[in-house]
Amino acid sequence: MLKELTKSARTDMKPKDKQTEIIAITSGKGGVGKSSLSINMALMIKQLRKKVLLMDADIHLGNVDLMLGLRSTHTVDEVLEDGVHLEDIIVSGPGELDVLPASSANARLLDMEDVFLRKLAQEYRRIENRYDYVLVDTGAGVANSVLGFLLGADKIMIVVTSDPASVADAYAVIKLIKNVNVDIPVLMTPNMMPSHEAGEELYKKMRLMVNKFLKSDIDYAGTVLKHELIARSVKTQKPVVLHQPNASASNNIRMISKKIMQTPRRKDQDKKNIFDRFIVNKKVPLEWD
Ligand SMILES: Nc1ncnc2c1ncn2[C@@H]1O[C@H](COP(=O)(O)OP(=O)(O)OP(=O)(O)O)[C@@H](O)[C@H]1O
Ligand SMILES: [Mg+2]
Repeated sequence: MLKELTKSARTDMKPKDKQTEIIAITSGKGGVGKSSLSINMALMIKQLRKKVLLMDADIHLGNVDLMLGLRSTHTVDEVLEDGVHLEDIIVSGPGELDVLPASSANARLLDMEDVFLRKLAQEYRRIENRYDYVLVDTGAGVANSVLGFLLGADKIMIVVTSDPASVADAYAVIKLIKNVNVDIPVLMTPNMMPSHEAGEELYKKMRLMVNKFLKSDIDYAGTVLKHELIARSVKTQKPVVLHQPNASASNNIRMISKKIMQTPRRKDQDKKNIFDRFIVNKKVPLEWD
């Protein structure tokens, strides 16, 4: 069973010369649609004939596997055991999407001990050439574990709703990122919006604040409207992009995915390995003011 599930992770290597692009999806406030968008974007990018790994990095409350109706037999912390490899933990989900599930509330993961991260980095080296894109669905908020993944990403997509708390929290995350590194492209995606115009308006307001107070910039990934199909597809564990590829919700996701894929990656990242990047970045002192 597990062999079958992990089959697609073992096949179809991508050309070695092209470095995998790591895209982190984050928000600040929880419940704004990170996981729904990560899942659908991962499937969309796969439909665009790229090789994709969706990594659930929400180590407190990760639920991508549940949202996809997956039952994972192993958890990430098991790589510390002899003979368990990262590809044994990756499961093949709907649309043959490779998913690395989170390990819920595992103490070792929450602490992100170096010995564990080094083992993960070593394990990741075995599979890193298999993917064009790794999409990282981070937890909400700005815990060090989230920031480690954000600062290690090639691009960050920040999901925001019109809720003022979501806007304020998103700004706080952008500020933290930009205080450490201004070169990581940050793309904003207003989600659950009533219209594309309203989304663009929200982006412009955020951009103005980032320009003025952070002397920096953010990009616009596009707006995702409030689509009943997205909400329903999460409940029924049937991602809309897979089951209704021609629905306007799917077109909406396609537009965003393409924009993110086309955005040039940061130039200052020399390490390939996502966990090696994490080891460096989790030590970065944070500036809150
Ligand atoms: N564009 C959308 N239209 C309608 N409903 C949406 C949309 N995006 C997300 N949702 C719904 O919003 C809820 C929260 O979404 P989701 O779990 O993806 O958010 P999250 O940011 O990952 O949350 P958490 O911070 O808890 O991980 C879900 O019920 C989902 O169906
Ligand atoms: Mg989530």
